[in-house]
Amino acid sequence: MRKKIVAGNWKMNMNLQEGIALAKELNESLKAEKPNCDVVICTPFIHLASIAQFLDQNIIGLGAENCADKEKGAYTGEVSAAMVKSTGAQYVIIGHSERREYYKETPEILKEKVLLAQANGLKVIFCIGESLEEREAGKQNEVVKAELEGSLFNLSKEDFEKVVIAYEPIWAIGTGKTATADQAEEIHAYIRSVIAEKYGEETADGTSILYGGSCKASNAPELFAKKDIDGGLIGGASLKCADFKGIIDAFN
Ligand code: 13P
Repeated sequence: MRKKIVAGNWKMNMNLQEGIALAKELNESLKAEKPNCDVVICTPFIHLASIAQFLDQNIIGLGAENCADKEKGAYTGEVSAAMVKSTGAQYVIIGHSERREYYKETPEILKEKVLLAQANGLKVIFCIGESLEEREAGKQNEVVKAELEGSLFNLSKEDFEKVVIAYEPIWAIGTGKTATADQAEEIHAYIRSVIAEKYGEETADGTSILYGGSCKASNAPELFAKKDIDGGLIGGASLKCADFKGIIDAFN
């Protein structure tokens, strides 16, 4: 059975003290009431080492939102996968549409990041998803397939099986406009079929595919009830303990 996962992506929100306070609150809340799914929080780099000190990583996994596409050396301002791992984090988000769009991360760059993350023992949450324009042109399947092929399908079956996919339609991120559960299910099923074509049914069946984009406690139950939706990657609603917990509770 593939894993059900609710992951938070804090993005560029919260200073160190605020982030620590939120992680502590979440840690206490989930220790008191064990979740029915895996829970992960992905935070800015500066939070990782401090949060790793107290987070019960049997209950909540910790991850970064990005890592460098180079191993080490003279890359001012960059943070390598090895550095992320050394904080005690276990996960890293790669290929978020905000990185692709604002920081011009190409499929080739993302491919390097995935390889380095895995070489350093990090679990990759890899984001794919189409823009509004692409959806309106009916190109969403083509786009997600190309994103998988461009940065992941070079992996061996064994390494691909360590990756979590997050489908995040760009038009639904931070807009309050969620994909309907049926729309999301349709493309999740398609993504799974593309994985099956490449790596076989068993691998496809075992791959967790998360939905992201204006997911909140009110729509999570309907989304997560779909056969091919294995949880969520949550932005805005991961910034308050009660909101995030409300989404985690969709699995109860
Ligand atoms: P929102 O939940 O704020 O729409 O963000 C989704 C997202 O981008 C998670 O990575």
